Formats: sequence, structure tokens, C-alpha cells
Amino acid sequence: MPDDLPTAPATVRVRLATTEDARALAGLAAVTFPLACPPGTSPEAIAEHVATQLSPERFLAWAASADHALLLVEPASDGGTHDAARPLGYALLVRGVPDDPDVAAAVGPGEAVELSKIYVHPAAQGTGAASVLMTATTQAATRLGPGLPVWLGTNVLNARAQAFYRKHRFEVVGRRTYVVGGETHSDVVMALPRG
Ligand SMILES: CC(C)(COP(=O)(O)OP(=O)(O)OC[C@H]1O[C@@H](n2cnc3c(N)ncnc32)[C@H](O)[C@@H]1OP(=O)(O)O)[C@@H](O)C(=O)NCCC(=O)NCCS
Repeated sequence: MPDDLPTAPATVRVRLATTEDARALAGLAAVTFPLACPPGTSPEAIAEHVATQLSPERFLAWAASADHALLLVEPASDGGTHDAARPLGYALLVRGVPDDPDVAAAVGPGEAVELSKIYVHPAAQGTGAASVLMTATTQAATRLGPGLPVWLGTNVLNARAQAFYRKHRFEVVGRRTYVVGGETHSDVVMALPRG
């Protein structure tokens, strides 16, 4: 992580990630995923989740998939040159029919777009970078699934993330459980208002 981190949204930009970004994003995911876990989550469960669900191979597949949109936010101060080693945050959208009945009940039947992941490096939190990423991500959700519901799940104890999502118009619509490395966690389901 660079020490000349941006301090204002004007100093960052968002773009779609490519397969070349996969390794850097997996590295960022290993740093940021534990921050979304509730206190008491075992290090082993986190390590298993990172190794199996957030590997470079996973990011490669997401970057190449038509049913996904993988976005990253990075410093804009490199003169426009591509610097895949410096993502500050990333977001992943997934288009599909939710397979969790609790989510389907909360979001509605049929296809939807899930904001599956949005993570910003701790050094970039509170700088506005996450909001720049979120604005671009909700626009990308409209392109990925025009007219479809947009939803996410986040841990019930993750007050910061929930405040961030409310700031970006998401509302609580239900609950679900989510498994991390074999441990079952409780999530709120949030969605953007329709229309
Ligand atoms: C979620 C995340 C992307 C948001 O980015 P961010 O830069 O922290 O977001 P912001 O600072 O713009 O907004 C957070 C809001 O929560 C508020 N907040 C901070 N700590 C809080 C707390 N403990 N309880 C309630 N609200 C809190 C902040 O005041 C801010 O609201 P404001 O702008 O109205 O003052 C980022 O915190 C992150 O990556 N967290 C770790 C990973 C994670 O939890 N990801 C979500 C997984 S579902």
C-alpha cells in the first residue's frame, strides 16, 4: 500500500478490473475481508474463506465473466497509466437468481444484481474513495441488470458498513445467514429502492 494515499475523491478514479488486476485484488481482499467479520470469528475460518473464496483464480474468473462486474478504485495521480499494483478498494457485482430462499423472499423472485463485495483498504476508509467506488458500482449494476433489484448482505454487527450503505440509499429488507469457513454468521439483507 502506498504512503501517498488520496485524501479526497478527486484524487481517485474507478475502472473495471481486468484479469491483470487479479493478483493485486486478491492481496487487497486478504487484508480487507477480516474487517467485515464479526468479533470472535476464528482466524482459521477467515483463512479458509480467503484461501478458497478470494483467491487470484476467483478474481481472474470474475474479471472475465459476463455475469459479473469487478470494479476497482485506485489513485488517479499516476498520470493515467495503469498501475495494477495499487488498488485502494474493489467491488463485485453478480447477476443471477438468488439461491438463498431468505434472500429471494426479501428481494423478490427472479433475477437480481447482488453487490457481493465492496471493500476499501483501511488506510483509504473515511477518505471518500468508497463513495466514489459505490457511485460507479450502482451505475454498473444498472448496466449489468437493467431494471433488476440491487441487493447486498452484510453482517448484523457491521455498523459502519450499514451506515455506509444507508448513505447510498440501501434499505434493510430482510435477514439471511452466511457461512464463513464453516461458521454461520447473521446478515441483514439491504436493497436499493425500486424505480
Ligand atoms: C464498508 C466500507 C467500504 C465503507 O467505506 P468507508 O470509507 O469506511 O465509508 P465512509 O467513511 O464513507 O462511510 C461510513 C459511515 O459510517 C459511519 N461510521 C463509522 N463508524 C461507525 C460505527 N462504528 N457505527 C456506525 N456508523 C459508523 C461514518 O461516520 C460514515 O458515515 P458519515 O459519512 O455519514 O459520517 C469500508 O468501511 C470497508 O471496506 N470496511 C471493511 C470491509 C467491509 O465491512 N465491507 C463491507 C462488507 S459487506
